[in-house]
Amino acid sequence: MKKFFLATSFCLLAAIALADEGMWLPFLLGEQVYNNMVQRGLKLTKEQLYSINHASLKDAVIIFGGGCTGEIVSNEGLIFTNHHCGYAAIAAASTIDHNYLHDGFYARSKQEELPAQNLYADFLLRIDDVTREIEDSLRGLTGEERAKKLQSVVTSINTRFSDAPAHVIGRVNALFKGNQYLVFVYQRYNDIRLVGAPPEGVGKFGGETDNWEWPRHNCDFSVFRVYMSKDGKPSDYSPDDIPLKPKYFLPVSIKGVKENDYAMIFGYPGATDRYETSFGVKLKIEIENPALVKLRDVRLKYMMEEMKKDPSVRLQLASSYAGIANYWKFYDGETKQLIKYHIYDQKKAAEQKFQQWAQDKPEFKNILSDWQRAYDAWRLYSMQRVYINEGILGSPLIAFAASLQQVENALVRQSAGDPAKAVASAAEVRKKFLKAENRPSDENILAAMTMMFYKDIDKNQRPIGFFENIKGSYGDLTSEDTYKKYAADIFAQTMIFDDAKWNAFVANPDASVLQNDPAYSYASAFLKNWQGKYISFFQDFNTKNNDLGRLYLKGIILMEPKKVRYPDATFTMRISYGTVKSYNPRDAVHYDDVCTMKGVLEKYVPGDYEFDLPPKLVELANKKDFGQYADKQKGDLVVTFITTNDITGGNSGSPVLNAHGELIGLCFDGNYEALSHKIAFDAVYNRTICVDIRYVLWCIDKLGGASNIINELKLVRLPATK
Ligand code: ARG
Repeated sequence: MKKFFLATSFCLLAAIALADEGMWLPFLLGEQVYNNMVQRGLKLTKEQLYSINHASLKDAVIIFGGGCTGEIVSNEGLIFTNHHCGYAAIAAASTIDHNYLHDGFYARSKQEELPAQNLYADFLLRIDDVTREIEDSLRGLTGEERAKKLQSVVTSINTRFSDAPAHVIGRVNALFKGNQYLVFVYQRYNDIRLVGAPPEGVGKFGGETDNWEWPRHNCDFSVFRVYMSKDGKPSDYSPDDIPLKPKYFLPVSIKGVKENDYAMIFGYPGATDRYETSFGVKLKIEIENPALVKLRDVRLKYMMEEMKKDPSVRLQLASSYAGIANYWKFYDGETKQLIKYHIYDQKKAAEQKFQQWAQDKPEFKNILSDWQRAYDAWRLYSMQRVYINEGILGSPLIAFAASLQQVENALVRQSAGDPAKAVASAAEVRKKFLKAENRPSDENILAAMTMMFYKDIDKNQRPIGFFENIKGSYGDLTSEDTYKKYAADIFAQTMIFDDAKWNAFVANPDASVLQNDPAYSYASAFLKNWQGKYISFFQDFNTKNNDLGRLYLKGIILMEPKKVRYPDATFTMRISYGTVKSYNPRDAVHYDDVCTMKGVLEKYVPGDYEFDLPPKLVELANKKDFGQYADKQKGDLVVTFITTNDITGGNSGSPVLNAHGELIGLCFDGNYEALSHKIAFDAVYNRTICVDIRYVLWCIDKLGGASNIINELKLVRLPATK
């Protein structure tokens, strides 16, 4: 019986499609990993993937605007990335009369392309290993001293590898929690222009409801272009600039995908913590995540209230709302999945195994007990930290007021910098703040966050006298009304909204005027309380956590020296490989590997905030007017697909490539069942959600009529059948 049981469970295991863990450094791709890729179907050589001397796939992959990935798809510097990566730039280019976010936008010629300030594209030039140099300079140092020295060494290496006039940027990156240091050298281009975007109802169809979920039906893409100076150099925006001639660009395949097809993703995953401890998981589940979610919940509610009232507020707050909502849902889901998959217990078991190995090794045997103590000491204050960052500073007014601390410092202590400079830069930041500010939602947020701090944070940690003063002037601290009146007064009286008062302050900066400003004194009360009494606990914890993390991983590597490992994501270029694959999210439920236009129409709710569609899309879809982008097998347009690849935030916009290195989609999300993926990769449930490139091209071509963009691409089709 037992034998039979074992045999069947083995078969079952084999039948479950396992996801492919690993975010590999392309320049350190070992034989084993490369061979696995070939076994999965890859038809390219290592040199074609990554080469320093020849054009290779890596040359087509860029950091897009600081937090996303993009890819070059034409010999004139055309970029594809996600709609949610271009979102802020599309919103910034929009007005109520020319609402590109709502209506979509396509430049019909290069003259119509719109300069996108604040965006840039970084191309990876090369990678050098500087571990030896850094370790030599840190020898014998521990704790705070080590951390300080590390910072200064990193800064000097960065400077050595950078060349500002040539727009070359060197950035040292700590891998394996500081057991390896690599410097990544990038070429930065600052002249980026918006070329095209679908209407929001298409690019973000399904909104927050569908975010982090499969099945999925939005076309998450936008199109930009990199420009360079006439003499072929990176430059800031200039009307004389010309399109970039890239080293390499990706051909685009409209051959389509089917289950088990090879899929490879090049990109910039931001952060994972796969070696997180049980202590860290516990703190996250019990304190950090629930606190963040609770505070964001309220902020989002007040923002949405105003966005629903007024289309101009909707446009104004759209990007900030999307950002807050994205990780509100993420952290809520992360907690649920960490609990569901018993990640705490898994971590405990791994730590027990480590402890057994470490028992007779002085360097390692106390790591876990020291770590536990560090967490115990920090836990008491960890909630306040979240409440400051996500609550008190969750009010945009207070976040701006908090930035004026630099001005105060410069005014009271000459050593803290030039007051005139500090004031001038504050005046610039204020302009941006006022442009983004929606007062009604912010006032509600300020009132609510103050009350939540009062109710939820240990009373011994409150700023001294702060709530007593509110009580004295506004009444009962358990009543919402009290905080509403208080917030209303701050908003009415601060010089931040009052040009006359603000200009007078700028003309004649005076510390006491700033200190008596109600918004500033509010921010300052919380900041000074935190900085005076609690920040040292955080710094102490952080130093220990970093030191112990580095040692722990060093030990793990020694314990299992043969195991092939990838470093945690650090927003450096990685390759992940896998296959197109369906899955079963729970008992008796099967999810297909692709979604189609049929499903878009099924979800369509005319007039809905999240599920409305442009009439033209509905019309074309009903006519099944899919042209060369139709999927012959499905008799429909495939809109999205899922793969077993290992990605995370930062990978958004990354190219999904087939076995020949042709673009088949853009990855844009992870699935709900695997939201614990930053801490523990789940081989059964993890999926990467991609928009099918055929849907992207259909949106550009059929829906947007921008054949000029299609003509620029190198399309790869199925051989014609007779
Ligand atoms: N969850 C996706 C990501 O982090 C998409 C985010 C944008 N969409 C949204 N509905 N907020 O890349």
